[in-house]
Amino acid sequence: MTEQNRDKTILRALAGEVLPTPPVWMMRQAGRYLPEYRATRAQAGDFLSLCYNPELAAEVTLQPIRRYGFDAAILFADILLLPQALGVDLWFETGEGPRMTTVTTPAELAALKPRAAIHDTLNPIYETVRILKRELPSETTLIGFAGAPWTVATYMIAGRGTKDQGPAHALKAADRATFAGLIDVLTEATIDYLSAQVEAGAEVVKLFDSWAGSLKGADFEDFAVAPAARIISELKARHPGLPIIAFPREAGEGYIGFAKKTGADCVAIDNSVSADWAAANVQVDGCVQGNLDPRHMVTGGEALVQATREVVKAFSKGPHIFNLGHGITPDADPENVALMIETIRKG
Ligand code: CP3
Repeated sequence: MTEQNRDKTILRALAGEVLPTPPVWMMRQAGRYLPEYRATRAQAGDFLSLCYNPELAAEVTLQPIRRYGFDAAILFADILLLPQALGVDLWFETGEGPRMTTVTTPAELAALKPRAAIHDTLNPIYETVRILKRELPSETTLIGFAGAPWTVATYMIAGRGTKDQGPAHALKAADRATFAGLIDVLTEATIDYLSAQVEAGAEVVKLFDSWAGSLKGADFEDFAVAPAARIISELKARHPGLPIIAFPREAGEGYIGFAKKTGADCVAIDNSVSADWAAANVQVDGCVQGNLDPRHMVTGGEALVQATREVVKAFSKGPHIFNLGHGITPDADPENVALMIETIRKG
């Protein structure tokens, strides 16, 4: 670690250091619970226009850093921009979420753009990273990200978010070659996308596998573990020393050994498992991130203070980055975020 990076507590935790106070950031820290985010999104017009506007995307990334002094900033973008760069149509229905044209047949898979073409669409995202690199305080770590192939595929196959990822499981059963082919295309494109973020200045990358929990048994190994292992080994070959966080959300027992099997430096833990369980079973292999229930950002009060202290204490014997177990929700109270940070930093 360079002398300059000693200021960056997130990088120190990722390198395995046990710090007296865990560094903290929050999934969806730039989001609708902040009035300044809503104002900038209105200025951009809509969510996707905000993602593709480097000045404004950098601005919303910086807003929670200015307001709270988080130890990391996460690039403002979305996991569904990569499929868009591969040629699918993507839009957001107000109040409902993402919609996209589907990829479920060999012909639709073959019609996706070649991986080298993704940068034509994604260049503004790399520009956002370059702006952030210049503007972030020296102690703040810049995190880039992508969706994991399985999670991105669930949206591409269904054309929208689904509760049980039914359409993706159905394609996997009915036409395994097309399904596995889509996972392969996404795996290789994700490597190039994350690599370009690192070249632009991202210091850490995170792989979001939000729907990993619905993959069971051999499917979990084939479509959550194997793609993550491939992405991580190739990124580390291209960028030696790059720290990588993996988030196989709701993997349960699948969290055990995930870092070893994939080469991830840190495993992010959701709040469906207890911090004590994760400390005993996952933190034994290295750094973990998590895992306060995001509902506390809505409900606040003494329960928030107690739950924050419990997470800090449970993970205090090993390397830990404090975070929520999933993204903060739009109905959260910004005051509760301040209370969480004060509790972490002042005890
Ligand atoms: O964490 C951050 O602050 C960085 C930016 C970020 C966003 N999405 C911005 C966003 C990140 C890391 C994501 C990841 C993402 N996007 C995931 C994986 C993580 C997770 O939450 O499980 C997924 C599954 C998506 C896909 C996606 N994007 C959905 C399903 C939705 C709609 C749901 C919603 O919250 O509205 C989005 C939209 C989205 N992505 C918003 C933000 C701030 C809200 C858009 C708005 O401003 O209206």
